Amino acid sequence: MPDTVEIFEVGPRDGLQNEKRQIPTAEKIALVDLLSTAGFRRIEIASFVSPRWVPQMADSAEVLAGITRMPGVRYAALTPNMRGYEGARAARADEVAIFGSASEGFSRANVNCSIEESLERFAPVCAAARADGIPVRGYISCVIDCPYDGPTDPAAVARVAARLRDLGCYEISLGDTIGQGRPETVAAMLRAVLQEVPAARLAGHFHDTAGRALANIEASLELGLRVFDAAVGGLGGCPYAPGAAGNVATEAVAARLADLGYATGLDREVIARGAEMARAMRAA
Ligand code: HMG
Ligand code: MG
Repeated sequence: MPDTVEIFEVGPRDGLQNEKRQIPTAEKIALVDLLSTAGFRRIEIASFVSPRWVPQMADSAEVLAGITRMPGVRYAALTPNMRGYEGARAARADEVAIFGSASEGFSRANVNCSIEESLERFAPVCAAARADGIPVRGYISCVIDCPYDGPTDPAAVARVAARLRDLGCYEISLGDTIGQGRPETVAAMLRAVLQEVPAARLAGHFHDTAGRALANIEASLELGLRVFDAAVGGLGGCPYAPGAAGNVATEAVAARLADLGYATGLDREVIARGAEMARAMRAA
């Protein structure tokens, strides 16, 4: 039996959030509906954040209402605070994600508060989600480098990871937001985080700015990680991280994992069509 690795598709959220052209809701729904047939177990498709901050995600409730839900697929949404959580719950997101940072500069730029304040805002979200039986995923941005503060101390990532673990996040996704990681720096960061959170509860979230995302995924596989976030067509970036290129492309991760002998359960033909659709959305 080959070892299994899961790709968590984040294209419809992390991919599209940064697009300048306001993509029609129907196009987003069509992309999600196609991706729902590819074999993913989790797809992030919405973000209940301020529409002034991220206008592209303003139709998140409509996207969740319009998709054809595939049994066995969980549709996820970002929720920075209680208001976002309430929006996500009303729209019937299957799981939500809180998103913190390992660097103060990025925390300020992205959610307009310190790391500590962001964690305080997440606490009631986690409590409400627990009461509602909705799983919460946690993100940590800038785990390697921050566009404002420079290199991130692995101990700072481990500290935030421990806090997200204590808040009840079922999984913590470690974001190399500006894609400057190298296998050595990624491994050093992971060794620090693994002191606090086991590999089975971690995911790697690599942006491909420097073309090293696949190498960084391989370094993470060696340390036991088996979940990686990716976006079809390599869509994406982060509006509050200057220089952040797209997420590593789902099709590239699926191909590399297959070469390495891992099973992903994905239909790569469907993913190729999704990548084409994503690129057409970007080019339009
Ligand atoms: P704030 O200004 O500190 O908070 O923003 P506020 O409570 O004063 O609210 C400001 C405005 O937002 C008000 O409206 C609120 O009503 C509204 P206004 O008076 O301007 O008309 N508001 C909301 N509207 C809709 N939904 C909400 C909500 N909350 C407040 N939930 C806030 C704080 C977090 C809201 C803001 O900073 C924000 O929306 N930031 C968005 C950041 C974001 O979405 N970034 C991209 C996602 S993170 C990412 O991509 C990284 C990741 O991929 C991992 C990686 O790669 O590293 C996950
Ligand atoms: Mg990201």
